[in-house]
Amino acid sequence: MEDKFSERTRRLLPSKFAEVRRLVMERTDIIRLELGEPDFDTPRHIKEAAIQAINEGFTHYTPTEGLLELREAVARKLKRENRIEADPETEVLVTDGGLGAIYAAIQSLVNPGDEVLVFDPAWPRYLQNVLLVGGVPKRIFLEEKDGFVPDVDEIKKHVTKKTKLIILNTPNNPTGAVVPKNVIEEIGDLAVERDLILILDEVYERIVYETKHFSLATHSDLKDRIITVFSLSKTYAMTGWRIGYAVSHANIIEAMGKIGGYANACRTSFAQKAAIAA
Ligand SMILES: Cc1ncc(COP(=O)(O)O)c(C=O)c1O
Repeated sequence: MEDKFSERTRRLLPSKFAEVRRLVMERTDIIRLELGEPDFDTPRHIKEAAIQAINEGFTHYTPTEGLLELREAVARKLKRENRIEADPETEVLVTDGGLGAIYAAIQSLVNPGDEVLVFDPAWPRYLQNVLLVGGVPKRIFLEEKDGFVPDVDEIKKHVTKKTKLIILNTPNNPTGAVVPKNVIEEIGDLAVERDLILILDEVYERIVYETKHFSLATHSDLKDRIITVFSLSKTYAMTGWRIGYAVSHANIIEAMGKIGGYANACRTSFAQKAAIAA
């Protein structure tokens, strides 16, 4: 049977996720540092917007790139909260959660053999998504003594001619580290210097306690080498609604949109209405 599977399927590492999940469900003596699942319910006005959309018959296909009304709401939020300027028509893509954006970004940029720098510990889906396209994930290990913050000189040592992408997640799951602004900016400089693209996973942007979240994409001159990924999952406890978005250069957004369109014709219509309310 195994030999019937595509090479890309066979490249994926076996996931321990189901096993670990079963263990934590069964036992009460395990401290859970997994699953980015907020501990509150989706706020009522968001749920009501979805219910209203369903009752009004808003249950059909929508544009693949997301409702324009939602992309406009996203562009306003990006400007207000992240200081990112984005044209809602061309530079914003609504995705199936943040994961949909990460999948589309990796699928549209990474060729077999391309190296992708990922930090460790990290959310495991980066590595698996890189393997899926035949890319080569290169792990850079982070240490508790450094606050799990990457060191730019260490990153430099891992960059080769084959390096295409760096994936940085801040605020971080699972470590909780928030990478300081100056370090993020140094990584941005390195991307320019070595012609790399950055995927910045900022889905936990609102889950910060002692410091402020910083989005590198506020530097508009970096637009053609940054894909910033956001999600409604964590901010509004909407993990099951599957709405996220990416902001980047129009050409990258177009390429990602093509990939997303083959995986799934559009994002769920009434979930997008709920996202506008959020
Ligand atoms: C670091 C990180 N990025 C992205 C995601 C994707 O979340 P979603 O697809 O629900 O937006 C998660 C989910 O746990 C995560 O922990």
